[in-house]
Amino acid sequence: MTKLRVGVIGCGRISVMHFGSIINIDGLELVACCDIKPERAEKVAKDLNINAYTDYVEMFEKENLDAVHICLPHYIHTDVAKVAFGYGIHVLSEKPMDVSYEKAESAVNMAKEKGVLYGIIFQCRYNNSARLVKNAVASGKLGKVLSASSTLTWSRSDEYYSNSDWKGTWDKEGGGVIIDQAIHSIDLTNWIIDSPVKAVSVSMANRGHDIVEVEDSADGLIIYENGAKYGFYCMNNYATDEPIEIKLQCEKGRVVFGYDDAYIYYNDGTIEEAHQDENIDKGMGGMTYWGFQHIRQIEQFYKAVRGEEPLEISGEEALKTHKLIMMLYDDGKMRP
Ligand SMILES: NC(=O)c1ccc[n+]([C@@H]2O[C@H](COP(=O)([O-])OP(=O)(O)OC[C@H]3O[C@@H](n4cnc5c(N)ncnc54)[C@H](O)[C@@H]3O)[C@@H](O)[C@H]2O)c1
Repeated sequence: MTKLRVGVIGCGRISVMHFGSIINIDGLELVACCDIKPERAEKVAKDLNINAYTDYVEMFEKENLDAVHICLPHYIHTDVAKVAFGYGIHVLSEKPMDVSYEKAESAVNMAKEKGVLYGIIFQCRYNNSARLVKNAVASGKLGKVLSASSTLTWSRSDEYYSNSDWKGTWDKEGGGVIIDQAIHSIDLTNWIIDSPVKAVSVSMANRGHDIVEVEDSADGLIIYENGAKYGFYCMNNYATDEPIEIKLQCEKGRVVFGYDDAYIYYNDGTIEEAHQDENIDKGMGGMTYWGFQHIRQIEQFYKAVRGEEPLEISGEEALKTHKLIMMLYDDGKMRP
């Protein structure tokens, strides 16, 4: 099997999950990394014996990449993806797609035109818990989802924001707790309900972070065309990163699940459950609240690059959640 040549742009916090996955997947050769902060790129390059760049265009010119992973601030995700598409390079981008719907949609269109794959990271869809629940709904075993709720109570300190030159800003992060943290629980619920959104009603505010512009708490109701109603609550003023909780009331049972565990209580008295794998590699240096499934999604992306199976979380698929996130901000009326 010819090895695929892979690069990573952005050597910040999340990049460890990408580097750790790429070097552990057969058939991939990590050849280069890029960060505008030279010391960050050089450190990774030295540790992993790859080439370091501060300019991604130079990396595209010199490295003959098959694929690139984008681990950058939100507002440049699609700008950089489009440059890669122009070089015929497949792209796997971190969530969210961008800070606007139009930019995300135009990147999806360009990837199609250029005939390259465009994947978006939503690694939580690869948790055993989420798979069990998605299959039980999609197969009809649970019947229709009637209502859903999700709760996210996490901690983002003032230092988390003051140590970053882009987080906490409307123009660069595109929002706060919704677009950055709760996006995963909102994506899971939206993916499982799997119906177009009819209406949203949202309240959002910055209630405890004086040093940032964006919302740090939000709640709302999302109404779907299939009749399902989904209420969410999220805030990042909590003392710790509590496990998230998603609940569903379905025609044939009810569900309680988070990233690690899922319990389905069917109306006929049977119970199904799923749990995190015991032997999953937690040694990549990431945060526990990110989950551990980047590697599963990255493996799936490269199966699609090799033409072995369709890409599961394509740009087109991710646009459904991106559209919803943008609707929440429009309705929240806090974004300038
Ligand atoms: N999937 C998850 O669970 C998860 C978790 C954390 C972060 N993320 C996402 O990962 C992305 C990065 O977040 P982070 O926390 O690692 O941010 P970060 O600020 O730690 O890292 C971003 C890096 O990009 C570099 N950079 C900025 N502009 C650049 C440019 N033009 N060219 C090259 N490098 C550039 C910065 O110097 C920095 O090192 C975001 O989209 C974030 O939402 C996803």
